[in-house]
Amino acid sequence: MFYHLLQIPVPKDIPLALPLPYWLLVAILVFSFLLHILFVNLMIGGTLFTLWAQMLGRKNKHYNQVAKEIENTITVNKSLAVVLGVAPLLSINVLYTVYFYTSSILLGYMWISIIPLVIVAFLLGYLHKYTWDKMANNQILHISIIAGAALIFLFIPFIFLANINLLQFPEKWGEVQGLFSAVSLNNVFPRYLHFITATIALTGLFFYWFFGRKKYPFENKIQGFGREDIQRKALNIALAATAAQFVFGPLLFLTLPAKGIEWNLFLYIGLGVTAAVFAIVWMWRMVNSPVKRPVNRFVPVVMALTLTVIFMGTGRQFYRSNALATHQQLVKQKTEQYLQLAEEARRLQAEGKLEEAAQTASMGQQLFDQNCAACHQQDSRLIGPPIKEIVPMYEGKKEELIAWIKQPGRKRESYPPMPGFPQLSEEKLDRIAQYMLGLM
Ligand code: HEC
Repeated sequence: MFYHLLQIPVPKDIPLALPLPYWLLVAILVFSFLLHILFVNLMIGGTLFTLWAQMLGRKNKHYNQVAKEIENTITVNKSLAVVLGVAPLLSINVLYTVYFYTSSILLGYMWISIIPLVIVAFLLGYLHKYTWDKMANNQILHISIIAGAALIFLFIPFIFLANINLLQFPEKWGEVQGLFSAVSLNNVFPRYLHFITATIALTGLFFYWFFGRKKYPFENKIQGFGREDIQRKALNIALAATAAQFVFGPLLFLTLPAKGIEWNLFLYIGLGVTAAVFAIVWMWRMVNSPVKRPVNRFVPVVMALTLTVIFMGTGRQFYRSNALATHQQLVKQKTEQYLQLAEEARRLQAEGKLEEAAQTASMGQQLFDQNCAACHQQDSRLIGPPIKEIVPMYEGKKEELIAWIKQPGRKRESYPPMPGFPQLSEEKLDRIAQYMLGLM
């Protein structure tokens, strides 16, 4: 049934013990990833907001000051984003070694290009930050610089998502080559929309808080707007983006391949959505309040959305482990077989019988070629069914396979009967069966 999974080029790695208990590594992965992504969101969102405010500044120059203030937050947020990326990267490497390695390799140059892209985006960001005065007369060029950084920042998550998505689908690895084919797997785009929208929502909330801080001397820094105006604008953006998730979220869910969907996923997504509904209602009341300073529900909103993110993050971890369970099982089996063979080879070598053993192995192949290959090919039907169809039926059942070869039964309507091989000795039958089972 899972034969297609066996065709996949997975390195059969040596099973090393994990350095920490599995559950602890998963907890570290989920938690450190959420922290990392928080600051990634603020870094990307801050860049987008800076660009936007500066574009508004062409009509109303007071917005330039808002843009500068927003831009000042990026430096810290991006340092935190980078530093906090180390833990999730290491833990995903330990937990999903074979998977993460393979999907990274399949993305090829695009994966490694993240490093130069990040460097260029950072440099453009600094260039923009320190040239407000110098480029005051060349606004278009100045805006283009931050727009360049924003475009790069919008592109990088795409590579990450393609990778993290691809690692869940080993059955596709045979077909994927490079970013563009990885992106064509059905749910990369919905995931991307979901991510970017979350970025905007989170950044809106962040600036609601940032401009509202008691210690922040708003009036000295920004003219032309009241503190509450800017806060309300920021909250409005957060509200609109959170509401948009009610379109992008289901879109993502509907395009998710069914293989990892189990009841626990519904549970976590349901809880996450419920918390988000509360957040939306509270934000809506604040944004649409007729009074200048509405009842402040910022803390409950943040708590509700934090719950949403934790539930969704947990849900996606469950999806990933559901989706990979079968394949991990198969890799484990293969690894055990491999270890047994390696052990056997060491023993034979110690007894000085390695050569003899190699001869017996090649004897299996020779016998198969002489007696069976005329009717059985690896992938396609000849007179008999292909090997990839018949061998998995006998996994772990060498005796039954031998019994069939001695005296074949009659099974398939669309094939002629298979001739028996009473002339083959027990030893030869054993060699053939051994060889065939190794073909899986
Ligand atoms: C003359 C052609 C021919 C040769 C030679 C032949 N086979 Fe077959 N084999 C068949 C056909 C036809 C079937 C399908 C029979 C059926 O389903 O009724 C089959 C089916 C099988 C099956 C599937 C059994 C099952 O449970 O469905 C196995 C295993 C197999 N062959 C092994 C071998 C081995 C091993 C050899 C060599 C020792 C061999 N065959 C040689 C034609 C051949």
